[in-house]
Amino acid sequence: MPETTPDTHRSTVAAADWDLGQADADACERLARTLCTGGHDQVDSPEWVARARDAWEDLPPRLRRAVRRFRRHSGPHGTIVIGGLPVDQAGLPATPAVPGSVQRQATVPAAVLTMVACGLGEPLAYLAEKSGALVQDVVPVPGQETFHGNAGSVPLSFHTENGFHPHPPDYVVFLCLRADHDRVAGMRVAGLRRALPLLTPAGRQALFAPEFITTPPPSFGPGTATGEPAAEPRPVLSGAAEDPDIRMAQLVTTPLTPRAAAALTEFGRACEETARTLRLAPGDLVVIDNRVTVHGRTAFQPRYDGADRWLQRTYVTTDLRRSRDHRPHDGHILTR
Ligand SMILES: [Fe+2]
Repeated sequence: MPETTPDTHRSTVAAADWDLGQADADACERLARTLCTGGHDQVDSPEWVARARDAWEDLPPRLRRAVRRFRRHSGPHGTIVIGGLPVDQAGLPATPAVPGSVQRQATVPAAVLTMVACGLGEPLAYLAEKSGALVQDVVPVPGQETFHGNAGSVPLSFHTENGFHPHPPDYVVFLCLRADHDRVAGMRVAGLRRALPLLTPAGRQALFAPEFITTPPPSFGPGTATGEPAAEPRPVLSGAAEDPDIRMAQLVTTPLTPRAAAALTEFGRACEETARTLRLAPGDLVVIDNRVTVHGRTAFQPRYDGADRWLQRTYVTTDLRRSRDHRPHDGHILTR
């Protein structure tokens, strides 16, 4: 895995773990295009997801093998980056620049994301975020530069996705359709398995204590009603002492005790020490194990000229059944 010298964030800059190669990329694109017939909005329909689930079986074996191995164990970084996925660059429209932008129409990138999501588990979305679309645009939006979320372009601090919710996604999958103009935007990822050894015993102990409150992120909109009672204190770390799960967001996790505050600061430093910065190129697919990895973003400069940075994102759960009481009609959208 190529890693170079530390950048300004003291982290390493990493490229794709490996590249799909032209023959497999072509096979992948042909398969994705079979999901792009029909014309109208269909990405969120159970029928289209079912077609994508079946199509997963026909993806190149090397891609399926890597994804399934990652599903079993996501490794020290909790992240895999595979380059060279088809994104239909020639036919790509202008980068959207409106708030709440999502991908409802079947496209090659949406098909790739959904097939991979079905290989990892099942796609998942939250009605309160991006209108519950299964494939969401992560693009800079004019006037939202300082927004702490997917529409912003200022630095985004470390977080797991939707740690406040009873059913956060197990994986977050990103596909890069366009890089930013200056090629400086970095996705920052810090794997807990690398950060954990840097923590003091007292720090670990505090992070395992229910002394933190995590609220919904700004992307869920003000006054988001999740149908759940007011947030209860929870630990940041849970499960096995030697390989725990994590739920936190530097922006919206509040420590309730002095030792919790100190532990959160200590954990933030450990993330800075161990984080990798991914400078994504078009066709790069990133899978983040949201249970053991935090992520964030460096700043970049949008131009709003139709050629800005454009990622698409899908959440994945390994066990859709677990959230059945949050999903009417057994769909993929959590309505509370
Ligand atoms: Fe995120």
